Amino acid sequence: MKDTAQLVNELTLLEKAALLSGANTWETRAIERIDLPAIWLADGPHGVRKQVGSADHLGINGSEPATCFPTAATIAGSWDDDLAERVGAALGAEASSQGVGVLLGPGLNIKRSPLGGRNFEYFSEDPELSGRLAAAYVRGIQSAGVAATPKHFAVNSQELRRMVSDSVVDERTLREIYLTAFEIVVRESAPWAIMSSYNLINGTYAHENTHLLQQVLREEWGFHGAVVSDWGGGNDAVTAVSAGGTLEMPSPGFDSARAIVAAVESGELPMADLDARVSEVIDLVRTVSPRTAATVDLDAHHALARRAAAESAVLLRNEGGILPLGEGTTVALVGDFATTPRFQGAGSSLVNATRVSTLVEAMGASSTVTLAGTAQGFRRDGGSDPTLIAEAVALASRADVVVLALGLPEIAESEGLDRSTLALPADQVELLASIHSANPRTVVVLSAGGAVETPWSAHAAALVHGYLGGQAGAEAIVDVLTGVVEPGGRLAETLPISLADTPTAGSFPSRARTAEYREGPFVGYRHYESAAVDVAYPFGYGLGYTTFAYRDLAVDENGAQATVTNTGLRAGSDVVQLYIGRLGESGVLRPVRELKGYTKVWLEPGESRRVSLAFTDRTFRFFDVGSDSWQVEAGEYEIAVGANSQDLPLRATITRAGVSLPLLDERLATVSTGGADDAAFAVMLKRAIPDSEWGSGPLEVNDPMDRMSGARGALGRMAFRILDSRRRKAEAAGTPDLNILFLLNGPFRVISKMSGGLATSRLTAAVLTLVNGQSVRGLGRIIGAFFRGRREEKAAKRAFDAAAQRKSA
Ligand code: BGC
Repeated sequence: MKDTAQLVNELTLLEKAALLSGANTWETRAIERIDLPAIWLADGPHGVRKQVGSADHLGINGSEPATCFPTAATIAGSWDDDLAERVGAALGAEASSQGVGVLLGPGLNIKRSPLGGRNFEYFSEDPELSGRLAAAYVRGIQSAGVAATPKHFAVNSQELRRMVSDSVVDERTLREIYLTAFEIVVRESAPWAIMSSYNLINGTYAHENTHLLQQVLREEWGFHGAVVSDWGGGNDAVTAVSAGGTLEMPSPGFDSARAIVAAVESGELPMADLDARVSEVIDLVRTVSPRTAATVDLDAHHALARRAAAESAVLLRNEGGILPLGEGTTVALVGDFATTPRFQGAGSSLVNATRVSTLVEAMGASSTVTLAGTAQGFRRDGGSDPTLIAEAVALASRADVVVLALGLPEIAESEGLDRSTLALPADQVELLASIHSANPRTVVVLSAGGAVETPWSAHAAALVHGYLGGQAGAEAIVDVLTGVVEPGGRLAETLPISLADTPTAGSFPSRARTAEYREGPFVGYRHYESAAVDVAYPFGYGLGYTTFAYRDLAVDENGAQATVTNTGLRAGSDVVQLYIGRLGESGVLRPVRELKGYTKVWLEPGESRRVSLAFTDRTFRFFDVGSDSWQVEAGEYEIAVGANSQDLPLRATITRAGVSLPLLDERLATVSTGGADDAAFAVMLKRAIPDSEWGSGPLEVNDPMDRMSGARGALGRMAFRILDSRRRKAEAAGTPDLNILFLLNGPFRVISKMSGGLATSRLTAAVLTLVNGQSVRGLGRIIGAFFRGRREEKAAKRAFDAAAQRKSA
């Protein structure tokens, strides 16, 4: 077999350039002459979404049936790397069985704000937990011979204007919070691909970011795979090639290939850069194909999805031990989600599930409890309905226990849209109060992909956060409620008391050109613990049906050991968590404590286990911007071990050697309590704060299309009004219109990037002429650019096909 370098040498310049963008929405280009097949890329993070019919990347058109596993936010609650790896392996096997070579997941962006519309697809607010779980997924997926594509690299924290938003973040926060999870994945599981994000990072698009893609990802972390752009995330194809962006998806036709060819011919782009990227594509294709497709047992995968959802469900409250429900309990099942479950989010991760269980069916099938009846209780669209409440109350008073299925409706969390509130819909809260008066033995089960405020929790005798449990989520909840499975989940994100307490309150999501990460490293519990802000349920928290005690902490150079005992009467699991914090004055801004290790233990009643939590090279490090390297600050550190970020009964100190730093710059004092002021932020950035305003001049190719609201051209303003009214209509009907959101949030360049060659970048420029008020000239240019584009596209395709299909002599 020829090696990759030989194959690269056999390619024409156009072939090389054309290999760096997709052939269509989901496939790479084949080059028969060198026996290079096309490979199929498909979402996604919690189930395969292979569209063989009409293709779109937003989950709108149907896809082949596949198991819908719990989403990442759910599985994160398990804190169980082995479970994540098993789910990954099942995803990989299903992908392989469908002929998918590259699976677009897992998603591991850090939950900067609980309002992030896509938080359901991500693991945690903490990089250690996110990174380890994602690495486990990658190991699982790739064990089936399918490439995993951890995404979205990097600092992709908001959905609003996600393709044009510039994340302005200081280098230390970037490294410690937003890159560490990716670093863990790359170093520990060697993914064959990675997906660059839509946004800019410190002024440069992710797919063109030399710092991220070359210096950090490849040189420091040793990544050898292909960097795949997010769909439509490619901007300047030539810049991407030099910066380390490998494959632009989906297909811009031959538009990008022509630009690359021209840049090589003019000497602007060195052939060596192009060859490096082409090798990465060829290596990826050859790594994942040809493979023998795996056969899958869909029943076994459904069972795994069920077990995983149960092991991940977080029991937040259990007054008087109302759970687990005893033998013969009669249950009134209330809530719209009981019959029409919310088990996954919306957007590119939408899976066409092989089957979906509902609470009403699963409860009906339980041999432990008896279903007394069901009632809808509330309307999904949020409209208050006294009749539904009255029916539910009547039912509630006839049963031993009420199981009330509450949660967020579809419109509340989706790709393309950030949340505007952390509150549960008011009609659901009203229903809970009425049900509680009728029957205080009320168990609330939440279906939501993220955090919600819980000011109503006193009305719930028990509260289970089931997150988005996948297709078997309802069966899993019944397993948990009836004690068939221990609720093994612990919060992978803090549940704050109120939105106002969150570190980015009032500034997330940013509508400006930049999103300023003024909270620095104080994300999630790092903020609440450091600024002493009370929370509803802390990071790492969760109850089981038994109790645990911790004792005998021993700390040495290599790690910590502690003894955990199951002090209750049932078998159960607990997640032993290790946090560290530096004692005394530090020369850098530091959260009070940070998670550095965890392990899950299963213990029989009365059983004890000595658990070890090894230190790693991440345990004591901080990113020293002065020397541009990881360092350990000399001094004393507190080692804290326990059950969550606030319940850490075991403490010890350890002294570490390292660098000595001058005292902290006084201007940074504001950061840990309310975010950096201008002076502090400039110190953190080590440069002036970049301008966040949109220009007042004509709209440009990378301006979001929703800025057409103020376009100079009447046609531009009209286009905005049409798009916006469709957005509002869809939202009023309860389902987000992802196509419209994609356009409104996206820049003008997607017109050519997503058209499969129908529109060129020249045509996009012509559209802008029109939007900017020169209607007649714009129209003329559009027509001219269209026909010219067609001619160029056909010529490139002919040349490519003629070369690619020619058999070598
Ligand atoms: C999403 C990616 C996804 C891609 C392909 C994009 O809109 O951001 O996560 O993999 O579409 O569907």
